[in-house]
Amino acid sequence: MCAFSQLVIELARFNPSCRVCFDEVALNPAYAYEITEGWVAVDHLARVLFAAQGCTSRAWSRCLRATPSAGATYPLQAYAIVRDVEGLEPGFYLYKSTAPLTHYLERVSNDVWEGDGAFAVVFAEVPERTTSVYGERGYMYVREEVGHAVQNSILEASALGLAAKVDEAPPSFEKLVEVIVEVGRRGARSLVREVPEGGLPKPPKPKLLLEEAIVARRSVREYSEEPVKLAELSGLLAWTLGGSLRSYPPLRGSYRVSCYVVARNVEGLEPGVYEYLPLANALELISSGDYARKLAFACLGQEWVASAALNLVLCAKGSYELAEVEAGMVGQGFYLAATSLGLGTVAVGAFYDDEVASVLGVDERPLYVYPIGKP
Ligand SMILES: Cc1cc2nc3c(=O)[nH]c(=O)nc-3n(C[C@H](O)[C@H](O)[C@H](O)COP(=O)(O)O)c2cc1C
Repeated sequence: MCAFSQLVIELARFNPSCRVCFDEVALNPAYAYEITEGWVAVDHLARVLFAAQGCTSRAWSRCLRATPSAGATYPLQAYAIVRDVEGLEPGFYLYKSTAPLTHYLERVSNDVWEGDGAFAVVFAEVPERTTSVYGERGYMYVREEVGHAVQNSILEASALGLAAKVDEAPPSFEKLVEVIVEVGRRGARSLVREVPEGGLPKPPKPKLLLEEAIVARRSVREYSEEPVKLAELSGLLAWTLGGSLRSYPPLRGSYRVSCYVVARNVEGLEPGVYEYLPLANALELISSGDYARKLAFACLGQEWVASAALNLVLCAKGSYELAEVEAGMVGQGFYLAATSLGLGTVAVGAFYDDEVASVLGVDERPLYVYPIGKP
């Protein structure tokens, strides 16, 4: 008899039905819970994998996925490592999604895995897909994309009431990227995420469910002249980054990414460059004035940077690869918060680092720019 009883496993079509919104999962993330032993449903595995790399739409004869990709080059391949998933034999599975909302698994090995979770999501990288277009900078893009996919997996696990943790993959996974997301049943809550009050105003309630936002998320590059409200900006920042614990877990125990706001057309906020202070959930003015055009110039003239109501700029001190993964985790939060609030954004990775830093007036390395506006 064949070693694998079933090679291809069709997964149920992704149906955004889980009734929680981005704010709820961001404030009560799966990584705050310990993982306990126990089986999970195959639908849980399917939903987490879909959030990581599922096809949500088609354009240019290819799939656009749940997480963004520089130039739609898609350098990541998701795998599931199954341990305790009802109806699936333990082993390694390749995840495939080649038409909107549909997906399947291909069993690639029956190796066993001694992790904590019922399953784990890992990614193999094909960086050449991105570096052949973007050269050396492509390596940063790939790490940022790992961050997007990891964070979407964690957010979806949070929506499903599961626990998740991000770890470094064991060295034996040599072909796979260094990050592994383990997912399992929730045990005790060991961490509490709280966003301090008294700083930015209370954000509005999202208009979409998290899963609807995951499916609807697209890069938006055209914005109206309608201002973004300070409470909406508050949602983007507080849900994603506010407090001593953020919507995503600290990698190797610490956070490295800082966030600056370049405000142009925000109701209730004077134009200028601000630093976001996560521990106070507040903005501190660095310099007054409209810097959007200068920032767009530093971003190779990308017009959407100039026409956005504001830009969020992620930076880190020094050049640390984990900061690039973290920037992707933050960026996924910005995309989903914006989509949930009826705003639009696009990840911008193409810019002159020194020029962006000089617009901000900071001694840090810029990692990402996110224009935000009403589509
Ligand atoms: C690391 C990274 C860098 C990107 N840089 C840019 C950029 O400089 N300008 C831009 O317009 N879009 C940029 N994008 C957005 C991609 O073009 C977009 O994600 C891709 O076309 C897929 O479309 P979607 O986001 O709507 O799914 C970037 C995306 C990623 C992940």
